[in-house]
Amino acid sequence: MTGRYVSITLNQLLVDEPLPGTVYLNIDGRFLAFRAGGDAIDRNTFDRLQFKNVTNLFVLEQDFTKFAGWTVAAPSAPASEGPEPTPENRELVEAWKDTHRKTLDIFQSTHPDHHIAGVMNSSRKVVSEITRSPFAVQSLTQLQTFSKGTVDHSVNVAVLAVYLGMQMGYTSSVILQNVALGGILHDLGKRKVDVQDSDTPEAAKAKLREHPTLGLRILETMEQVPNEVKLIVAQHHEFHDGTGYPKKLRNTAIYDLARIVAIANTFDRLVSEGRGTLAERQRSALMKFDERFFSKFDADKHDKCVRILKLGI
Ligand SMILES: [Fe+2]
Ligand SMILES: [Fe+2]
Repeated sequence: MTGRYVSITLNQLLVDEPLPGTVYLNIDGRFLAFRAGGDAIDRNTFDRLQFKNVTNLFVLEQDFTKFAGWTVAAPSAPASEGPEPTPENRELVEAWKDTHRKTLDIFQSTHPDHHIAGVMNSSRKVVSEITRSPFAVQSLTQLQTFSKGTVDHSVNVAVLAVYLGMQMGYTSSVILQNVALGGILHDLGKRKVDVQDSDTPEAAKAKLREHPTLGLRILETMEQVPNEVKLIVAQHHEFHDGTGYPKKLRNTAIYDLARIVAIANTFDRLVSEGRGTLAERQRSALMKFDERFFSKFDADKHDKCVRILKLGI
């Protein structure tokens, strides 16, 4: 294919939406078709690009306006800019952005241990911003953003889990910092998961299910990471009824803070799978969470979280 190529940032891409034209990667100066028009870039592919530090993709110049229109017209927000800024939540949005940058660093680095101090610092900022003015945060749209991939999702989960933990009565900043750090790091093992286009859906699912164990393995040797955080990472997919993974733990065998992060994790996943505006997605996620997940969490926590989330929508 001949023609001029123009770059678009990875963040301009919409996930799970058919592309309006072919997108290319620039590898060693050559443009290679990556996905054809009509195909979609799913979340795993988005992650793969992000973890490999790909910041730009390319489109043919004649397709550029189609891409610009596609981004604007699509129902989801194009970029990870943090929650919608308002005069009251400016610092929270700053903490969100800082956490996002640090989370991206730890996911992309070949030496995640070099970035752990930065991530721990971010988790403290998140907690101090949420606890500083919890009741100024009226709406969930001020806590959450569209999650395209694992990095956005991790920040969302951290913020939501701290908010839920606090509203459920946890007041100690040490505990809330563990919740925040557990949220930021809960999916860190995904950077080690190597799903290929050629994998069958079953094979890809089996690989992905290893991420709690892989995440624990990355953190195991980091002495500065509290054991509570390691437990959250290892157990964030365990469910109350024993249907979770990797250990099919039940009931109180699941660490309490891991259960809070699991709820935030489930809720953010449901939001990301929905359609429409963020508020519409949150409403339908809450309905699904209420109806389908009551056996997955202990009844008390499930009911409390539904009430807390309802107040925010
Ligand atoms: Fe996960
Ligand atoms: Fe997750």
